[in-house]
Amino acid sequence: MPVKIWKAPQPRSPFAPNWAVPMFVGHWASPQGVQETRDLILAKEDELKSQFDPVPISGITDGLTSRWHAFNVFTWPEAPMRAMAEFVTTSYREYLAHLKIDRSRAYIQGWANVLRESEKLTPHAHDLTERSYLSGNLCLSAENTETIYYPPYVYGAELKPEQTLGLKNQPGNLVLFPSSVFHETSPNLTGEPRVTIGFDVFLDDADSQGRRAGEGRHILFDDPVGPDRMSA
Ligand SMILES: [Fe+2]
Repeated sequence: MPVKIWKAPQPRSPFAPNWAVPMFVGHWASPQGVQETRDLILAKEDELKSQFDPVPISGITDGLTSRWHAFNVFTWPEAPMRAMAEFVTTSYREYLAHLKIDRSRAYIQGWANVLRESEKLTPHAHDLTERSYLSGNLCLSAENTETIYYPPYVYGAELKPEQTLGLKNQPGNLVLFPSSVFHETSPNLTGEPRVTIGFDVFLDDADSQGRRAGEGRHILFDDPVGPDRMSA
């Protein structure tokens, strides 16, 4: 089952940290889809970079990650992107069903990360507000890198590796996780670009600047009572 509950060590005191974080680790079993999605992102990289100004984030000062707010890969019409979106949708619903959480009207905004030699994402979380919902990471190409997830109650502590959850970035792997979970990546130590798609799913029709779908970049992702727009 792709859902794993990442738990605190058994508390030995009534005040010891006690938490449980549901993580979804799935796999897009379409090497061709993975490859074509990667190629499409790399083909569009220069155009996107020339279209939008970078906003430094998580240790990245240029490139697609620093333009994450300016585009949404889930709106791209190409066949590989539609197949990718379908896989993400199916995985998201499987995650909720396993946790017995009802589907809600939800929105999505996704971007691409292309990290080249020596680049890495420094620790960050996508949403620490009371409305925080889910985020995801789909690996399209990577060699010997991992994404490292931090447990709750970190407060800037230096953590031992056994206190974190390191998941290898393997092409096709999809991780879904609560948006409040801090994470970082290990550096890309190869000459090949590490290409991933990152995304946020949220329940309010408003992005970080308060814009609604149609004004901002996010789109309707799931609607339990409406037409299934993602697979259109
Ligand atoms: Fe992230």
